[in-house]
Amino acid sequence: MKATAIAPANIALIKYWGKKDEQLRLPINGSISVNLSNLQTITTVEFYPDYQADIITIDGKQDDKETERIIQHLNRIRTLANLYHKAKVVSQSNFPKAAGLASSASGFAALTVAASKAGGLGLSEKKLSILARQGSGSACRSIPDGFVEWLEGDSSETSYAYSLFPYSYWDIAIIVAVLGDEQKKVSSTKGMEAAKASPLLATRRKRVNYRIKMFKKIMKERDFDELGELIEAEAFELHAIALTSAEAIVYWKPETIEIIHLVRELRNEGLPIYFTIDAGPNVYIISEKENTKRAYNELKQIKGIRKIIINAPAAGARLIKEHLF
Ligand code: PMV
Repeated sequence: MKATAIAPANIALIKYWGKKDEQLRLPINGSISVNLSNLQTITTVEFYPDYQADIITIDGKQDDKETERIIQHLNRIRTLANLYHKAKVVSQSNFPKAAGLASSASGFAALTVAASKAGGLGLSEKKLSILARQGSGSACRSIPDGFVEWLEGDSSETSYAYSLFPYSYWDIAIIVAVLGDEQKKVSSTKGMEAAKASPLLATRRKRVNYRIKMFKKIMKERDFDELGELIEAEAFELHAIALTSAEAIVYWKPETIEIIHLVRELRNEGLPIYFTIDAGPNVYIISEKENTKRAYNELKQIKGIRKIIINAPAAGARLIKEHLF
């Protein structure tokens, strides 16, 4: 009863920011993301009668503060599988957790696929997405392939993600400028809680469904500039809500703003690149493939960038044969 899965991180293009059910992690609106080819987590899970307790090792360490949340997730799977054995879990990401990238999405997606297989469950993609959502909301979007929509839903069974377009649909690059050297100061759970006080949240809720409709139309037409304008507006809206939350949350660093200005200047000079930003300082720049090299070279000039990771759209979570133990 051992299984291993690999799962990508994803970046939201239409953002999820707020829950209508904390326990089930039901979002207040639907969202859309793309899986990232170079930010991945591999997880091996084994349920075994002789294990006395769950033993969880993440990136070589056993004292991770996520341990409790992982055990809760294993419990969900044990309940579904009618299983009482403890588990050994070993998980390895190819990017530093401390960088404030979306490690919980790839982590919980890989854990869900590996643990449900190890527990003998044969779950559909939809069921896996529903399960992953309960571990970490955005993890449900790392299960399907490529460009993914998470349906808001009004119950656990109706809130899941599915593939809008395969990863091969549009050959764009997502260039991540990593600025963080520490985990997020305000977790997304806390940030979403604080966002309830923002007067802007109601306005967002009114128009986000229209944005989702626009996004799908733009994708069908493969209109890169329209896509860019839309995802920048989404990123600014998320941060406007953060800034007007119960305690104003400023996720940006000086370099975040420097990159925003650089992208806009380059655009004025005729380089069509756009950005999005999650609940952290890092900037995700999207470009068409032929412009990636130039965008990369321009970004390299900014001193505070710790690392630049170039991604393509990627497949979703899947089982692999090589185990980590
Ligand atoms: O799923 P969480 O709790 O990691 O929240 C993700 C929130 C954002 O990354 C900011 C937006 C999103 O849709 O992924």
